[in-house]
Amino acid sequence: MEIGECKSRKSFWRGIVEEYREFLPVSNETPVVTLNEGNTPLIRAVNINKRGIDLELYFKFEGANPTGSFKDRGMTLALSKAIESGSKAVICASTGNTSASAAAYAARAGIKSVVLIPQGKIALGKLSQALVHGAHVIQIEGNFDDALNIVKELIERYPITLVNSINPFRLEGQKTASFEICDQLGFSPKYHALPVGNAGNITAYWKGYREYHRRGKAQKSSLPVMLGFQASGAAPIVKGHPIERPETIATAIRIGNPASWKGATDARDESGGRIEAVTDEEILKAYNLVASTEGIFCEPASAASLAGVMKLHKEGYFKSGDSVVCTLTGHGLKDPDIVFRVSKEPIKVKAEIGEVEKIIERII
Ligand code: F0G
Repeated sequence: MEIGECKSRKSFWRGIVEEYREFLPVSNETPVVTLNEGNTPLIRAVNINKRGIDLELYFKFEGANPTGSFKDRGMTLALSKAIESGSKAVICASTGNTSASAAAYAARAGIKSVVLIPQGKIALGKLSQALVHGAHVIQIEGNFDDALNIVKELIERYPITLVNSINPFRLEGQKTASFEICDQLGFSPKYHALPVGNAGNITAYWKGYREYHRRGKAQKSSLPVMLGFQASGAAPIVKGHPIERPETIATAIRIGNPASWKGATDARDESGGRIEAVTDEEILKAYNLVASTEGIFCEPASAASLAGVMKLHKEGYFKSGDSVVCTLTGHGLKDPDIVFRVSKEPIKVKAEIGEVEKIIERII
């Protein structure tokens, strides 16, 4: 029996293309390349808000996607459309997650992938993903912005499909996260906070919320106010000009000239929101807090959303009880080295119960 035919079909999540088909540019002829992405948990904060943050706070944990980041939502559609158009290879520039996702979906589709990454500046977990899925990995002596400029030129010369978020199918897929949040909550939140790097995701979420509202799927609530957060050493939108040498510990958003700059500022302006900068210190504090008090392990860039909410909360921006969703864009296991910057080293002792007891007595 095919899985699609079994009785429990209702509980079998088929991936975002099938689940939200009516909102996406696909036809019955489109071959769907999927790893059953989406349907990620929306987790209500139960401890952070006991620490003086009097908000109805939720985390959309996109680290629970098949390759551990939100990129899978866009990649399922980008690869499906690439295969539909007869493409035999895909290419992208990446700070890590896009390359991991592109490599996995290209493997699934049975076509080649080429990924350009900034040398020494992507987390090891992400590089391992690209390699294990069989991508042709090219490290460039430059940053993400340099890599993106190169791939944009390459696609003019070779029959290869670009799967960065300037490929419109990427954003179409990513907008489904907003649909899920409305479906999970039963309404749309008052505020939605996201980290901003190349600015595709905030653009996609805003599009998703608007479409869902227009189709009457999130009635009884108004559109959310969009809040975007860049790392202070890589904050071109906040500063109002490209940054030539962006720097941040949150390597996923180490970007100086975002491709969807206008999409991000439109989302901000149309929703009455803000795009602000948070320091690496604020990012690490939020990263540690969400892991140690809520049990959610996200990567540093993801924590920029919570860091920003905490910063605005301190400034008195929110009202008590406001509903706020923070997207946690990627899984912490991709970049485990960062843990050692915020956590204590493990305690080492001899393999004797007495030695361990001495420690237990200090703890309990
Ligand atoms: N969070 C994570 C974990 C990311 O990997 C990215 C982007 C962002 C946030 C920012 O999203 O670019 O849509 O504003 N990563 C891209 C990559 C650039 O190559 O993996 P954005």
